[in-house]
Amino acid sequence: MRIFVAGATGAIGRPLLTQLRGLGHDVVALTRSPEKAQTLVEQGVEPVIADVFDADAVKAAVIRAQPEVVIEQLTSLPKTFTAESMSAAATLNIRIRLAGGANVLAAAQAAGVRRYLRQSVAFYGVPGTGLADEETPLAFGSSPRVAADVRTITEIERRLQENPNLEGIVLRYGFFYGPGTWFAPDGDVAEQVRQQQYPIVGNGEGIWSWLHIEDAASATVAAVEQGNPGIYLITDDRPLEVRVWLSAFAQWLNAPPPPQVSVEEALRSSGADAVYYGTQMRGASNAKAKRELGFQPRPLEWLVGTAVPHAS
Ligand SMILES: NC(=O)c1ccc[n+]([C@@H]2O[C@H](COP(=O)([O-])OP(=O)(O)OC[C@H]3O[C@@H](n4cnc5c(N)ncnc54)[C@H](OP(=O)(O)O)[C@@H]3O)[C@@H](O)[C@H]2O)c1
Repeated sequence: MRIFVAGATGAIGRPLLTQLRGLGHDVVALTRSPEKAQTLVEQGVEPVIADVFDADAVKAAVIRAQPEVVIEQLTSLPKTFTAESMSAAATLNIRIRLAGGANVLAAAQAAGVRRYLRQSVAFYGVPGTGLADEETPLAFGSSPRVAADVRTITEIERRLQENPNLEGIVLRYGFFYGPGTWFAPDGDVAEQVRQQQYPIVGNGEGIWSWLHIEDAASATVAAVEQGNPGIYLITDDRPLEVRVWLSAFAQWLNAPPPPQVSVEEALRSSGADAVYYGTQMRGASNAKAKRELGFQPRPLEWLVGTAVPHAS
């Protein structure tokens, strides 16, 4: 298939292109950077240099490429995962998803694209018992930044799903780990854990759903080839409380055990986001992706060989 990828050079874009090329797909990729364009050429990918906020350039690029499928992985997230850096990045990240994404979607429609897949987020299911599934409403209430993120995601998912002209597929990914992510051994959170700057908040009962970046790419390829229009939660098999994964992560890094702070202290030092991620987040079920995409995620890297139970 001929496939156009926006956001092709980021953490998920890189393995995604490798897998698409490995399966013989013909790939055209958007980048703002002539240097990254050169790397794309070396990967056998046809680059298009444009800024996604330039609607005319994006439209011309997609029409010229004539793809059957468009994949949108645009984000503008920082290299560090802290309250300050995430707040500083929020405005542009929302803009790239809303305005940037709108330009790519409009271009895809103008080019007569058949199928459109886009990145979304698995960790905003409304709090409740058990794991969230694709029908679980998204939660708005926890912190201003999370609420703004959820409003953005609701809008980008809505406009794709309500579009009658394309097969829209929303991929709600879990927390990325693996090369190029915050949770790689050379990533920002690993460094914070080594410095004992990444604490367990309260009793650490927020439940995280993880996703290796290579598995994110392979689920995306499966959705390109055999997915049905609609939403898929793409997460691994073992959602885990923070107190469990963070302690195991520290051990795996040979770092000291993570410190523990009260909810009040976390609110004061890091704000409401930290309390949401640390104590309120709900895990997500990957049952639909396993059933319909044949998704087979690997076990969380730093738990392999340990006897940690599933979260409920
Ligand atoms: N579910 C999750 O856990 C999740 C999801 C996403 C990201 N993250 C994390 O966020 C961190 C950074 O992610 P990342 O590596 O994907 O970010 P990144 O390196 O900033 O990649 C973002 C992608 O969007 C493209 N892009 C950004 N602005 C653009 C614009 N104005 N016009 C055209 N293209 C534009 C970039 O293309 P060019 O730079 O080539 O122009 C790049 O391909 C990583 O740690 C990652 O794990 C986590």
